[in-house]
Amino acid sequence: MKYSWNVASEVMRLFPPVDGTYRQALKDIHYAGYTIPKNWKLRWIPASTHMDPAYFRNPEAFDASRFEGEGPIPYSYVPFGGGPRMCLGIEFARLEILVFMHHIVKLFKWDLVNSDENFKYGTLLEPPKGLPIRLHPHTTIDSDKRL
Ligand code: HEM
Repeated sequence: MKYSWNVASEVMRLFPPVDGTYRQALKDIHYAGYTIPKNWKLRWIPASTHMDPAYFRNPEAFDASRFEGEGPIPYSYVPFGGGPRMCLGIEFARLEILVFMHHIVKLFKWDLVNSDENFKYGTLLEPPKGLPIRLHPHTTIDSDKRL
Protein backbone atom coordinates (compact mmCIF):
# COMPACT_ATOMS: atom_id res chain seq x y z
CA MET A 1 0.00 0.00 0.00
CA LYS A 2 2.79 2.35 -0.93
CA TYR A 3 0.65 5.03 -2.54
CA SER A 4 -1.73 5.08 0.44
CA TRP A 5 1.23 5.55 2.76
CA ASN A 6 2.57 8.37 0.58
CA VAL A 7 -0.83 10.10 0.92
CA ALA A 8 -0.87 9.60 4.70
CA SER A 9 2.73 10.86 4.91
CA GLU A 10 1.86 14.01 2.99
CA VAL A 11 -1.09 14.64 5.33
CA MET A 12 1.28 14.30 8.30
CA ARG A 13 3.79 16.63 6.65
CA LEU A 14 1.20 19.38 6.30
CA PHE A 15 -0.52 18.65 9.62
CA PRO A 16 1.87 16.85 11.99
CA PRO A 17 -0.27 15.02 14.59
CA VAL A 18 2.28 15.95 17.31
CA ASP A 19 3.32 19.60 17.15
CA GLY A 20 6.73 19.01 18.73
CA THR A 21 8.60 17.77 21.78
CA TYR A 22 11.70 18.66 23.79
CA ARG A 23 15.36 17.86 24.02
CA GLN A 24 17.71 18.89 26.84
CA ALA A 25 21.25 20.10 26.11
CA LEU A 26 23.73 17.81 27.88
CA LYS A 27 26.54 20.35 27.34
CA ASP A 28 26.91 23.88 25.92
CA ILE A 29 26.04 23.80 22.24
CA HIS A 30 27.13 26.42 19.71
CA TYR A 31 25.06 26.41 16.56
CA ALA A 32 24.52 28.98 13.81
CA GLY A 33 25.82 31.83 15.98
CA TYR A 34 23.70 30.84 18.98
CA THR A 35 24.79 29.31 22.27
CA ILE A 36 22.46 26.84 23.94
CA PRO A 37 23.69 26.47 27.53
CA LYS A 38 23.99 23.10 29.20
CA ASN A 39 20.70 21.89 30.74
CA TRP A 40 18.52 24.21 28.69
CA LYS A 41 15.52 22.59 27.08
CA LEU A 42 14.94 22.97 23.37
CA ARG A 43 11.60 22.62 21.71
CA TRP A 44 11.70 21.20 18.20
CA ILE A 45 8.70 21.28 15.92
CA PRO A 46 8.13 19.23 12.76
CA ALA A 47 6.66 22.24 10.93
CA SER A 48 10.04 24.02 10.91
CA THR A 49 11.37 21.62 8.27
CA HIS A 50 8.06 20.33 6.87
CA MET A 51 7.21 23.81 5.61
CA ASP A 52 10.74 24.82 4.60
CA PRO A 53 11.04 25.21 0.81
CA ALA A 54 14.71 24.20 1.09
CA TYR A 55 13.48 20.66 1.83
CA PHE A 56 9.97 20.59 0.34
CA ARG A 57 9.40 22.43 -2.90
CA ASN A 58 6.17 24.42 -2.85
CA PRO A 59 5.57 23.35 0.76
CA GLU A 60 1.96 24.58 0.99
CA ALA A 61 0.86 22.24 -1.81
CA PHE A 62 -0.45 18.73 -1.20
CA ASP A 63 1.77 16.43 -3.24
CA ALA A 64 2.01 12.77 -2.24
CA SER A 65 4.64 12.15 -4.94
CA ARG A 66 7.24 13.82 -2.68
CA PHE A 67 7.52 10.47 -0.96
CA GLU A 68 8.26 8.47 -4.09
CA GLY A 69 11.76 7.12 -4.68
CA GLU A 70 14.25 8.21 -2.04
CA GLY A 71 11.74 10.64 -0.50
CA PRO A 72 12.72 13.56 1.74
CA ILE A 73 16.27 13.79 3.06
CA PRO A 74 16.84 12.35 6.56
CA TYR A 75 15.59 14.46 9.49
CA SER A 76 13.60 16.84 7.27
CA TYR A 77 10.37 14.81 7.55
CA VAL A 78 9.80 14.14 11.26
CA PRO A 79 6.15 13.60 12.28
CA PHE A 80 7.40 10.67 14.38
CA GLY A 81 10.47 12.52 15.65
CA GLY A 82 13.98 11.30 14.99
CA GLY A 83 17.06 9.81 16.58
CA PRO A 84 17.16 7.49 19.58
CA ARG A 85 13.87 8.81 21.06
CA MET A 86 11.91 8.51 17.85
CA CYS A 87 8.33 7.26 18.21
CA LEU A 88 8.27 3.61 19.23
CA GLY A 89 4.81 3.18 17.76
CA ILE A 90 5.59 4.17 14.16
CA GLU A 91 5.05 0.73 12.63
CA PHE A 92 1.89 0.14 14.67
CA ALA A 93 0.61 3.60 13.72
CA ARG A 94 1.35 2.86 10.05
CA LEU A 95 -0.63 -0.37 10.25
CA GLU A 96 -3.60 1.33 11.94
CA ILE A 97 -3.65 4.21 9.46
CA LEU A 98 -3.44 1.96 6.40
CA VAL A 99 -6.12 -0.45 7.65
CA PHE A 100 -8.39 2.51 8.46
CA MET A 101 -7.80 4.14 5.06
CA HIS A 102 -8.36 0.87 3.22
CA HIS A 103 -11.74 0.23 4.81
CA ILE A 104 -13.06 3.77 4.67
CA VAL A 105 -12.10 4.23 1.02
CA LYS A 106 -13.38 0.80 -0.06
CA LEU A 107 -16.66 0.87 1.81
CA PHE A 108 -17.77 4.48 2.09
CA LYS A 109 -18.01 7.92 0.71
CA TRP A 110 -17.99 10.41 3.55
CA ASP A 111 -18.42 14.06 4.32
CA LEU A 112 -17.97 16.35 7.30
CA VAL A 113 -20.91 17.12 9.58
CA ASN A 114 -19.30 20.52 10.39
CA SER A 115 -17.73 21.62 7.14
CA ASP A 116 -16.02 24.59 8.82
CA GLU A 117 -14.46 22.61 11.68
CA ASN A 118 -10.83 23.59 12.23
CA PHE A 119 -8.05 21.79 14.02
CA LYS A 120 -6.26 23.11 17.09
CA TYR A 121 -2.92 22.15 18.57
CA GLY A 122 -2.67 21.30 22.25
CA THR A 123 0.22 18.90 22.21
CA LEU A 124 -1.71 16.92 19.64
CA LEU A 125 -3.58 18.17 16.61
CA GLU A 126 -7.22 17.91 17.63
CA PRO A 127 -10.58 18.82 16.13
CA PRO A 128 -12.47 20.73 18.87
CA LYS A 129 -15.81 19.11 17.99
CA GLY A 130 -14.40 15.61 17.49
CA LEU A 131 -14.72 15.77 13.70
CA PRO A 132 -18.02 13.92 13.24
CA ILE A 133 -18.54 12.58 9.73
CA ARG A 134 -21.43 11.13 7.74
CA LEU A 135 -20.72 7.76 6.14
CA HIS A 136 -22.44 6.74 2.91
CA PRO A 137 -21.93 3.07 2.00
CA HIS A 138 -21.03 2.53 -1.67
CA THR A 139 -23.64 -0.23 -1.77
CA THR A 140 -25.52 -2.25 0.82
CA ILE A 141 -22.77 -3.66 2.98
CA ASP A 142 -22.47 -7.38 3.35
CA SER A 143 -19.47 -7.21 5.63
CA ASP A 144 -18.42 -10.85 5.15
CA LYS A 145 -18.19 -10.46 1.39
CA ARG A 146 -16.74 -6.95 1.17
CA LEU A 147 -13.93 -7.03 3.77
C1 HEM B 1 0.22 8.99 13.87
C2 HEM B 1 0.56 8.43 15.02
C3 HEM B 1 1.74 8.86 15.86
C4 HEM B 1 2.55 9.96 15.75
C5 HEM B 1 2.49 11.08 14.72
C6 HEM B 1 3.52 9.89 16.83
C7 HEM B 1 4.50 10.84 17.06
C8 HEM B 1 5.43 10.75 18.06
C9 HEM B 1 6.46 11.75 18.32
C10 HEM B 1 6.67 13.04 17.52
C11 HEM B 1 7.19 11.33 19.36
C12 HEM B 1 8.42 12.05 19.97
C13 HEM B 1 9.65 11.55 19.22
C14 HEM B 1 10.92 12.33 19.52
O1 HEM B 1 10.99 13.03 20.55
O2 HEM B 1 11.88 12.24 18.71
C15 HEM B 1 6.63 10.06 19.80
C16 HEM B 1 7.12 9.32 20.85
C17 HEM B 1 6.59 8.12 21.26
N1 HEM B 1 5.53 7.45 20.68
FE1 HEM B 1 4.44 8.07 19.09
N2 HEM B 1 3.30 8.74 17.54
C18 HEM B 1 2.23 8.08 16.99
C19 HEM B 1 1.70 6.87 17.39
C20 HEM B 1 2.19 6.11 18.43
C21 HEM B 1 1.65 4.81 18.82
C22 HEM B 1 0.48 4.12 18.11
C23 HEM B 1 2.38 4.41 19.88
C24 HEM B 1 2.30 3.15 20.69
C25 HEM B 1 1.55 2.11 20.37
C26 HEM B 1 3.39 5.42 20.15
C27 HEM B 1 4.33 5.36 21.15
C28 HEM B 1 5.31 6.30 21.40
C29 HEM B 1 6.28 6.22 22.47
C30 HEM B 1 6.39 5.09 23.51
C31 HEM B 1 7.09 7.36 22.38
C32 HEM B 1 8.25 7.76 23.31
C33 HEM B 1 9.56 7.21 22.71
C34 HEM B 1 10.78 7.60 23.57
O3 HEM B 1 10.77 8.67 24.23
O4 HEM B 1 11.77 6.85 23.56
N3 HEM B 1 3.25 6.44 19.25
N4 HEM B 1 5.57 9.74 19.00
